[in-house]
Amino acid sequence: MTHSGRPTPLEARKCQSLTGRVRVPGDKSISHRSLILGALAVGETRISGLLEGEDVLNTAKAMRALGARVERMDDKGGAVWSVRGAGTGGLAAPTVPLDFGNSGTGCRLVMGAVAGCPITATFDGDSSLRSRPMRRILDPLELMGARVVSQSDGGRLPLSLQGARDPLPIVYRTPVASAQIKSAVLLAGLSAPGVTTVIEQEASRDHTELMLAHFGATIVSVPDGAHGRKISLTGQPELHGAEVTVPADPSSAAFPIVAALITPGSDVILTDVMTNPLRTGLFATLREMGASIEESETRSDAGEPMAQLRVRASKLRGVEVPAARAPSMIDEYLVLAVAAAFAEGATVMRGLQELRVKESDRLEATAAMLRVNGVAVEIDGDDLIVEGRGHVPGGGLVATHMDHRIAMSALAMGCASDLPVKVDDTAFIATSFPDFVPMMRRLGADFA
Ligand code: S3P
Repeated sequence: MTHSGRPTPLEARKCQSLTGRVRVPGDKSISHRSLILGALAVGETRISGLLEGEDVLNTAKAMRALGARVERMDDKGGAVWSVRGAGTGGLAAPTVPLDFGNSGTGCRLVMGAVAGCPITATFDGDSSLRSRPMRRILDPLELMGARVVSQSDGGRLPLSLQGARDPLPIVYRTPVASAQIKSAVLLAGLSAPGVTTVIEQEASRDHTELMLAHFGATIVSVPDGAHGRKISLTGQPELHGAEVTVPADPSSAAFPIVAALITPGSDVILTDVMTNPLRTGLFATLREMGASIEESETRSDAGEPMAQLRVRASKLRGVEVPAARAPSMIDEYLVLAVAAAFAEGATVMRGLQELRVKESDRLEATAAMLRVNGVAVEIDGDDLIVEGRGHVPGGGLVATHMDHRIAMSALAMGCASDLPVKVDDTAFIATSFPDFVPMMRRLGADFA
């Protein structure tokens, strides 16, 4: 899906306080995975709480094009999605190119699934996705026997991938901490005889591993080195359809959380927020900064922990965020930088090289977002240093660069900055959090 229409700018003005109780939409990572595993399983998978954002809807469309029956049904408690798959290795050759829009996750995980099937598929996306590196995924998939039939410069989209007739199980050390690389290898490994192993130096989010086990695969994950994991999947399992309840996305919760922390008098409750420790680096960091975030009603479903969070406006102080924490909060640095701007003292965020290859160059974009709103910020190699002065002047126009998280971070900042913050285009918010603007307004945000 591409946004060819006119941009939709929006301005966030200082508001009184943010109060109320909300459930942010379903987790994006888990939503993609539930559709993909449902398509690789035999029988019916029923998904409740699926994120109905553009990124995930594109994955649903792709799984349909690959032969799965994917239906949305209305239920008393909200929509339920039903997926009927063809079994491991059973995806059908699509007759149309698969368009993943803005979504690196959908695209890269489906590449892994296709690599394990004897079919050829063409992958494409919008101009942001076309600029992002795919070699990191294609390299291991080629080792497993898949072939890149055609590709754009440097292995970029659009490209055509021919899956392996007889995929090989491999032992693969990921060159960067990336759940997308790990997941692509594991999904291809489903069709390989024997054990496929992925070794990562820094543990990345483990939703694929947890969900594969939930669908009946044999998968073992053990610590490897100081922060790493070694994950071994036994190939050619009989995956069976399963019930999946998608918890609320902590990466989406991050925006109302930071907005509430920086807006005096705020008191917000967020329900069912997934608290998988490989995703909650932001919460740990905000607490170190002095944030009041209380957890209650903790429980877990299919191995994924979740909790209710109560967030109250807090006086924040600058901290140093170690590079080793990056994988557990990789999508949250933009909004952390907003919190850091409202803190007293410097916040130093180390080891952010991966931010350069996200939906935009988020390292440059974060610095630009703050600078144009009067915040002192510096990029030093792969580190970002924000000089917090307890308040943000605001008054700037933020360029979103087709990146949903820049738009939402800037609007969160405008809830408490001295002058309004304007964003040039909010259209891409629909990729991950379609209800963001009305939900924030319900909490008291002044967006116009
Ligand atoms: C994701 C992994 C992360 C993250 C992305 C979602 C996933 O990317 O940035 O938003 O669902 O696997 P990398 O694997 O490139 O770190």
